[in-house]
Order: sequence, then structure tokens, then C-alpha cells
Amino acid sequence: MGYKVAVVGATGNVGREMLNILAEREFPVDELAALASRRSLGTEVSFGDATHKTQDLDTFDFTGWDIALFAIGSDATKKYAPKAAKAGCIVIDNSSLYRYDPDVPLVVPEVNPEAVEGYAKKNIIANPNCSTAQMVVALKPIHDRAKIKRVVVSTYQSVSGSGKEAMDELWNQTKAVYNPTDSVPPKVYPKQIAFNVIPHIDVFLEDGSTKEEWKMVAETKKIVDASIKVTATCVRVPVFVGHAESINIETEEHLDEDEARDILREAPGIMVIDKREDGGYVTPIECVGDYATFISRIRQDSTIDNGLNLWCVSDNLRKGAALNAVQIAETLGNRVLKKG
Ligand SMILES: NC(=O)c1ccc[n+]([C@@H]2O[C@H](COP(=O)([O-])OP(=O)(O)OC[C@H]3O[C@@H](n4cnc5c(N)ncnc54)[C@H](OP(=O)(O)O)[C@@H]3O)[C@@H](O)[C@H]2O)c1
Repeated sequence: MGYKVAVVGATGNVGREMLNILAEREFPVDELAALASRRSLGTEVSFGDATHKTQDLDTFDFTGWDIALFAIGSDATKKYAPKAAKAGCIVIDNSSLYRYDPDVPLVVPEVNPEAVEGYAKKNIIANPNCSTAQMVVALKPIHDRAKIKRVVVSTYQSVSGSGKEAMDELWNQTKAVYNPTDSVPPKVYPKQIAFNVIPHIDVFLEDGSTKEEWKMVAETKKIVDASIKVTATCVRVPVFVGHAESINIETEEHLDEDEARDILREAPGIMVIDKREDGGYVTPIECVGDYATFISRIRQDSTIDNGLNLWCVSDNLRKGAALNAVQIAETLGNRVLKKG
């Protein structure tokens, strides 16, 4: 016996990946509902070899459904997630709406799988921001060995992190560069993204940082350890899929680069590709469709006593969203629901 699973936002970037990953990992699905807005009612989406027509989220009754994987924006989540949760369906949400709620666990299964057990207060579990998810997978084994004091991270985030319209904007602007009569003014982004980089993701906060940067700080504290100080600069780059991060880590205890490499090699969810030669590292285009968080360029930071630098790359639609959500469902199944 398996689960009745609803994928909410099934026509979106993350929702489609959720369907792929549920099928790939053979999650025990007894019945599947693909939900989206009324706009895309009847749109066909693939689930393994099967095709499902999307249903209207607004009229869907979650009674009797076990798990709903939500991948719609925060506004729509605010309206529909409580309805699903109240009907007894456990919501695993990809939006930022519930991430900082003390009654909602924020889970990366390689890091804090035990936290899923706190789902029952609201019947909701939150999935972190894409840039946080891959970073904490890399930080956790280092923290366990040498206690991290401070992290300085700069991100290089792909446009798929802003949804399907953003991917179209990069595509159309890129074509327009070669055909200037088809000028495509920025709509999703504040400036042209094609052949450019934009140091601005989500809204500005009073202290001059952006909400995306704040999310990396707050989420790392909630998932790994509240004592870790994080400072982030989040940058959008003209890449379709795959986020990269340059991470500088200061630890309390000394950890040399060889031991760090060995620890990361053994850690769950991580693939170390770190050859000090041309091409001996992973770039975003190479991580697309993969489950792993790839770590390269592991080296000592000689400007401080206990410092390391590394390069971290992952598929943001997978580890940054859909894969992590399905892993949460698996963890919930193994630890709590125990069906299937
Ligand atoms: N992309 C990432 O890397 C990433 C990472 C972490 C978290 N997230 C979060 O995941 C969510 C989805 O992101 P995405 O990239 O998949 O966006 P997307 O490609 O733009 O897709 C949005 C999905 O939400 C549905 N939707 C929007 N408003 C709705 C409403 N009022 N009622 C029902 N369905 C509605 C859309 O359905 P229609 O087709 O019917 O409009 C579509 O299926 C967002 O909250 C995002 O912040 C994304």
C-alpha cells in the first residue's frame, strides 16, 4: 500500500521535476493528482510512462489524500496550503511562506531528517530556498567535524530559480541580441539578464541586503545551527539551470583541505570532483538532471587560521526544490507514516 499524492503547481518548472523525481525514485504512489490553476485545466503532464490531465486546485478536495507537494508562489500557497493541511493532507511546501514559522520544520534530509517529526503542529513541512539547500548539504559534514563559525557565500543563480517566465526572458533576450529588431525589454528581472549578471534577487531590505541573502542566513541557522554566522551576496546569472556558489568557511577547529575533501567525499548527497587541472571541477551545465551537490576547488584560505574555500554546484530545480521535497516525503514515509 502506498500514498495518495498531489503535486500542486504541476505545470511549473518545479512541479514537472517533482513528477519526474517521484517516478524516477519509484516513490510508492497509489494515486496521483496533478493540480494547477484553472488557466491550465486539462494540460497534460507526464508521470513516468503515464500522462495526467491537470485539475483545478481551487475546486480540489484534499480529504483522503496523504501528501501534497506544493510548488506555487507564496500568495497562492497562503490560500491553499492551510485548506489541504486542514483536510488531513501533509503539505510539503516549496514557497518561502512557512520556512521561518517555528511550528513548521524546515528540512534538508541529508542534514536534519529528524525535524520531519515536527510536522504535526500545522501538518506542513517547508522546503528551503534553492541556494540554501545545496549549501547546507556541504556545510553539515564540515560543521560536524570542525564547528563552523562563519560563512561568506556568493551565489551565481540560474534563471530557472525565478520560474518558467524567467527562462523565456533569457531565451528571448539572447535571441534578440543577434536580431536587434526583436528588442525584449526586461520584465521578470530589473535589468537585461542575457549576457549580463544582476546582483539583486528578491526585494531589498532596510540594511541594504536582499531577501534572498537574508533567506540564506536565516535558513542555515534553522537547518544546521543557530550559532553559524552567514553573510551572502546573491547574483542572478544568464544560465538556464544550475546554481553555483563560492563558499568561504571559517571553522573553530583546524581542518586541512585533504581531510575536508575526504569528509565531503563520504557525506550523503555530495559528489566531490576536485582535480587541480583544466576542467577538473563541475560547472552548472554539467549538474543538470543530477541529484548530487557537486563540490570542487576545495582549498585552504591562508588569510585566516582555520579557513576553507570551496565551489558548490547543484541543479536548483532538483536538490534546490523538487528532489529535496520528494526526499522529505520519503523521510516522512520512513520515519512517520510507514506505508508503502
Ligand atoms: N525554481 C526553483 O529553483 C525553486 C526553488 C525553490 C523553491 N521554488 C518555489 O517553488 C514555487 C514554484 O516555482 P516554479 O519555478 O516551478 O514556478 P513556475 O515555473 O512559474 O510555475 C508556477 C506553478 O504554480 C502554478 N500556480 C501559480 N499560481 C497559481 C494559483 N493561483 N493556483 C494554482 N496554481 C498556481 C502554476 O500553474 P499555471 O500553469 O496554471 O499557471 C504553475 O504550475 C515558487 O514558490 C518558488 O519560489 C522554486
